Amino acid sequence: MMNTTLYSSDAFLVEGGVRLRGTVRVSGAKNASLPIMFATLLTKEESVVENVPQLLDVENASRLLSMLGAQVERCGDKVVINSERVKSFETPKEIVRRMRASVLSMGPLLGRFGRARVALPGGCSIGARPIDQHLKFFASAGAEVRVRDGYVNVEVGRKRGVRFRFDLITVTGTENALLYLSTVEEESCLENIAIEPEVIDLVNVLKKMGAHIEIEGRKALVYGSSELKGFVHSVIPDRIEAGTLMVAAVLTDGDVILEGVEPKHMKAVLEKLSEAGARIDNLGGGRVRVRKGSRTSPLEITTREYPGFPTDMQAQMMALLSVAEGRSVIYESIFENRFQHAYELMKMGAKIEVRGRSAFVYGVDKLKGAEVNSTDLRASASLVLAGLVAEGTTIIKDIYHLDRGYERLEKKLNSLGASIERLPSVAQLT
Ligand code: EPU
Repeated sequence: MMNTTLYSSDAFLVEGGVRLRGTVRVSGAKNASLPIMFATLLTKEESVVENVPQLLDVENASRLLSMLGAQVERCGDKVVINSERVKSFETPKEIVRRMRASVLSMGPLLGRFGRARVALPGGCSIGARPIDQHLKFFASAGAEVRVRDGYVNVEVGRKRGVRFRFDLITVTGTENALLYLSTVEEESCLENIAIEPEVIDLVNVLKKMGAHIEIEGRKALVYGSSELKGFVHSVIPDRIEAGTLMVAAVLTDGDVILEGVEPKHMKAVLEKLSEAGARIDNLGGGRVRVRKGSRTSPLEITTREYPGFPTDMQAQMMALLSVAEGRSVIYESIFENRFQHAYELMKMGAKIEVRGRSAFVYGVDKLKGAEVNSTDLRASASLVLAGLVAEGTTIIKDIYHLDRGYERLEKKLNSLGASIERLPSVAQLT
C-alpha cells in the first residue's frame, strides 16, 4: 500500500507490463510552433499556423500574444493570429516565469517597435540557461541593452545590418536574431547558428513573410523587409514526441506504427535506436514502424546540437538503457544539469552512476514501480516510459512539466494499450 501523500499538481498512475500495439499520430513540433507564433508579431496581416499541438506552452504563447494586444483564435490544430492591434512591447514576469521561450518575443518586438521590455528568464532545473548571446547579438546590431529590476530593456534607433558570430550554438538565440533581422532592410550575416529543423521551419516562415534568408552550413545571410506579410504554414512534426513514442514501443516489446513523422529530422535518434537493436521500418509517407529486436544493447551517446543526438531525447534514452544488456555511457554536452531523472529512475531500481556530465547506466533485468517526481519536461517523459515496463504501479507527480510539451501523451499511449491514469491535482492517495 502507498503512503498517504498530498499532490500540488496532476499525477500519473502507470501500470507497467503492457506491450504497446497499434498506430498513433505524431503532433506538430512544440519548439517550432513557439517561434512561428511569435513571428506573427512582425506583421499587421493575419497569419494561420497549422499543425500546432495543444499543450501548455502553446497556450502560454497564445496568452502572451493576447496580452500584447493580438487576436488569437484556436480551431482544432490551427491557430489564427492577427497582431495588427499590438501596442505593447512588454513581456511581463508572470508569463516568462511560466515559459522561458517567451524570450522569443524580444526579437519581434524590437523589430516592430524599435524597443522591447522582456522579463529576464531565470535558470531552470536543467541548467543556468543564460541569454547573454541573445543580448550580445542585439547590442552588436546597434541596440542599447539595459538589464534592470529583472527586466531586459532593448532599444534601437536606426535599424542596420550586422555581421555577428555566436560564441556558442543557441537555438532560441538564433531564432531571436533571425526574427529581428527579418525586419531590417540591409544585409546581415549570422555565423555559428543553430540549424535545428525547428530553426529551419521558422526560416521558411520568415521567407513566406517576405524576408530573404539563405542558410549555408552554420551561416545565415538575411535581408529583411519593413513590410512583412501574413502567412499560412503547417508546422513540422515533433521529432522529440516521435522519438519518445519510439522508445515506448521498443521498451515494451511492442509493435507500433507512427504517422506524421519526418524521419529525415531524426537520423541521430534512429541510428541509436537501431544500434540498440530496435527494428525500425520506414514505411514511407511519414509512417514508421517500430519494434524491439531480439535484445537491447547498451549504447554510448553524446548529446550535441543538430544534426547530433538531441539533448531533448537524452532522458528517454536513459529509461531504455536502464534495461539494456550491459553498461551504457551518456554524455550530456548541452545542459550542465540535465540528469535529474537519473535519481528518479534509481528509485525504480535502475543502476545509474552520475559523474559530472556523464551518466553510466548499468542495465538491470527489471524496473519496479515507485513514487517518483517530475523535474522537467523530458525527465517526466522518461519516467512515464520507465513506468510502462516497470513491475507494478508507478506514480509520477507534478505532471504539469509533461503537459507543457506533450499533447495528451497518456491518451496516445493508452490508445496503444498502455494503462495510464491521470489523477487530478491535490489528490489524496492511500
Ligand atoms: N546558452 C548560453 N547563452 C545563451 C544561450 C544559451 O550560455 O545566450 C547555453 C545554454 O545555457 C545551454 C546551451 O547554450 O547550455 C544551449 O542552449 P540553447 O539556447 O540552444 O537552448 P534554448 O534555445 O533555451 C531550445 C529548446 C530546448 C532545447 C534546447 C537545445 C525551445 C523553446 N527550447 O532551448 O527545448 O533543449 O534548445 O536543443 O526551442 C524542451 O523542449 O524540453 C527544451 C528544453
